[in-house]
Amino acid sequence: MSFYLLRKLIRKLPGVIIKLVPKPEHVLREGFGAREVIGEICAFAGYKSVLIVTDKTLYSLGYHEKILDSLEANKIKYNVLSNTVSEPTIDIISEGRNVAVNYGADCIIALGGGSVLDSCKIIAAGAKMPKRNIENLLHKFIYVNGKTLPIIAVPSTAGTGAEITVAAVVKNKRGIKCSTIVIGLNVTHVVLDSELTTGAPESVTVCCGIDALSHGIEGCLADIKTSKEDMNKSLECVRIVLENLPILISSPDDKEARQKMCLAAYYGGNAINKQLAGYVHAFAHSIGALYHIPHGKAIALCLIPIVSYHKNICRDKLAQLSVYCGFSKETDDQEAAADSFVAALEELLETCGFERGCDLIDEKDYKKLIRMINADSINYSPPKTLNNKEIARLLDEIKKGGNVCGLYTGTNTGNSCKAEKIF
Ligand SMILES: [Fe+2]
Repeated sequence: MSFYLLRKLIRKLPGVIIKLVPKPEHVLREGFGAREVIGEICAFAGYKSVLIVTDKTLYSLGYHEKILDSLEANKIKYNVLSNTVSEPTIDIISEGRNVAVNYGADCIIALGGGSVLDSCKIIAAGAKMPKRNIENLLHKFIYVNGKTLPIIAVPSTAGTGAEITVAAVVKNKRGIKCSTIVIGLNVTHVVLDSELTTGAPESVTVCCGIDALSHGIEGCLADIKTSKEDMNKSLECVRIVLENLPILISSPDDKEARQKMCLAAYYGGNAINKQLAGYVHAFAHSIGALYHIPHGKAIALCLIPIVSYHKNICRDKLAQLSVYCGFSKETDDQEAAADSFVAALEELLETCGFERGCDLIDEKDYKKLIRMINADSINYSPPKTLNNKEIARLLDEIKKGGNVCGLYTGTNTGNSCKAEKIF
């Protein structure tokens, strides 16, 4: 059996597995400066000694101080670990686990971006297995007997959705990124405090925003049965980003838009948990890894070619997105509505200042990229399994920054696609 057939056969398997993974039941608190209530949350939950994990940058900016004040006001003991970096090593995570165990922490407050939040998931799981080597826990799944230590997640960026995702991406000793799903993840509270995202450089705001947007879109397009509530969250994620990201480019201090973007990212995290990502992420991970392109930028690069390619795979869903976001009416022709949605995405990326196309992508790397994309896509629930020729064609389009609406229908297939010559 060919690898393509195998991928096609097991395409729905990740969707089945993710439904079986228990999702953390948590309380959501939101608002500008909302981290001031963390002391109250801990007192109410009965936590007596907490470990705050954050990164060097946030610590130096003093973003943890309001949390400390509220803990002191509520007579909660605390310890602070501030040596986490943007891509934490397993040694840093092991140290975090040891501090949590030796300090007797009954809760972890995770203050930071995706890396800090993901590290805390492993620390919280590892703390329940203090004798296990953390490196040995990094398999496809981490099973915790019962639940991990409780986590209060306080994201400092509006993008990854890591505050609620059950997956954690960390680097092992060899520097290889491992994505692991934590069974028994116990995020008890999510605090969306837009004050933490205010003041972020524009590049961070837009890259995180586009990442969240992609989580919402891919969730909506995923071939997975989901509840109406989850679908609405994914649709709302997309609508919020399309409406509020342009506001933040012209008015970066707009508190309302900042708070809404935090909510969009949180809904995007829900989309990953319930509907999974798709080919935008599979391409972005592979291109990003090979050419060292940050995640948000790689997503921006892949978004239009791949979403527009989906026009003939799930036009109805793109039309639904268009109607929900207000770019079309329900009575509009589906194809026109899907086109309007893709056009809105193009406009947003232009407003954000993303350039189309990428000269770094080299045709010589296509075979390697295709292997990487095929391997990564197995974790997702895309609406269709792409064959190698389709992936190569899309790589061509990503390289030149195209919109492939016409390619799939055969109206623009021509001989312009150099990648096809490879196969
Ligand atoms: Fe992402």
